[in-house]
Amino acid sequence: MRRTLFQNIIRLLPPETTHGLRMALLGIVGKIPTGKWWLKLCHAPSRKFDIEREVFGVHFRNPIGIAAGFDPNGDRLNELAAMGFGFVEIGSVVPRPQPGTPRPRMRRLRKMNSLLDNSGYPSRGLEYVLDKVRKRTKHTRNLVIGCNIGKLTATHPDDISKEYLRVFRNMYQYVDFFVINAACNTASKQYVPRTREELLNLVEPLFEFRRGQLDYRPILLKISPDLTREEIDTVVDILIETPLDGIEAVAGSYDMEPSRQGAITGAMLTDRAIEVVRYVAERSEHNYPIIGTGGMMTEEDIKRMMEAGASLVALNTGIRENGVRLLNRAAKTIATPKQTEQTEQTEQQ
Ligand SMILES: Cc1cc2nc3c(=O)[nH]c(=O)nc-3n(C[C@H](O)[C@H](O)[C@H](O)COP(=O)(O)O)c2cc1C
Repeated sequence: MRRTLFQNIIRLLPPETTHGLRMALLGIVGKIPTGKWWLKLCHAPSRKFDIEREVFGVHFRNPIGIAAGFDPNGDRLNELAAMGFGFVEIGSVVPRPQPGTPRPRMRRLRKMNSLLDNSGYPSRGLEYVLDKVRKRTKHTRNLVIGCNIGKLTATHPDDISKEYLRVFRNMYQYVDFFVINAACNTASKQYVPRTREELLNLVEPLFEFRRGQLDYRPILLKISPDLTREEIDTVVDILIETPLDGIEAVAGSYDMEPSRQGAITGAMLTDRAIEVVRYVAERSEHNYPIIGTGGMMTEEDIKRMMEAGASLVALNTGIRENGVRLLNRAAKTIATPKQTEQTEQTEQQ
């Protein structure tokens, strides 16, 4: 994908600075009176393409959205909505603020078009994010908001399910769906829940809480690309046998070189992410929604991901490195043109 001059210039900066600048700029544009209108004009996919979807009972105006870690605290929801994204997965939301790993904590692997992320999920914590989603404005009316729940670096694995439940209960009425992060926090790599018992321990208290609510919120499990085939089978069995609503695949990888210093995201992950999605889709007989994430750098990657079985696609490194034009190009690639009155008439004759 060809980058603009602006993208090439800001890519000379460290990856976290590049992203910080982009988000700050977006914030400034969003505050200008006609700013959101401009964002829409410049970025939102044309309405003549039919890309709307109904997934796990939720209406998405566009199946392409933002993955966790891009706008972790929900600071740019209005602007991302104006740009035409179908959904934003905020988070990982954790119960208390945590600073993440000391900087520098991200590296750009230029030749590979990938990032090495060791950020450790910096977050402003539950209270801050709650405040953001409570104050949702009319600008986010068409935007579906997912809440990704993650682990505080300091939390002992035995206490995780209590922590997840706390975030889940507090966020329940303010978001449209949940993603339970069962891949690890980049600062606590030793903990990736893989067994049936560990995974059920995360989701069962959430099912229990949801049973008592009037409104239904879909719950998805986000998995690591480093799981073995048997471990993915365990996840699919849980999907089939419990009220779990879907899977998000995948998070960053620790199994690829030089991932000892963090999680690999971006182009190095593309083929593995598509392979995992295809496997989960086939093994669950295409009966459950899957959010495809990981290495979605071009419109062709997104198309392949959807053909492999993803109902929705979440972007992170693709936008960080290749810019937001990816959204519009991908929407064109996956869309079926809306039938005009004229073509309808021709078909009727
Ligand atoms: C800087 C950064 C922060 C991230 N933070 C989170 C997070 O808090 N929770 C999570 O589940 N995934 C997080 N991720 C993983 C992404 O959501 C995504 O699964 C992964 O980056 C693969 O997609 P990509 O190749 O398109 O980036 C983060 C990724 C990056 C690059």
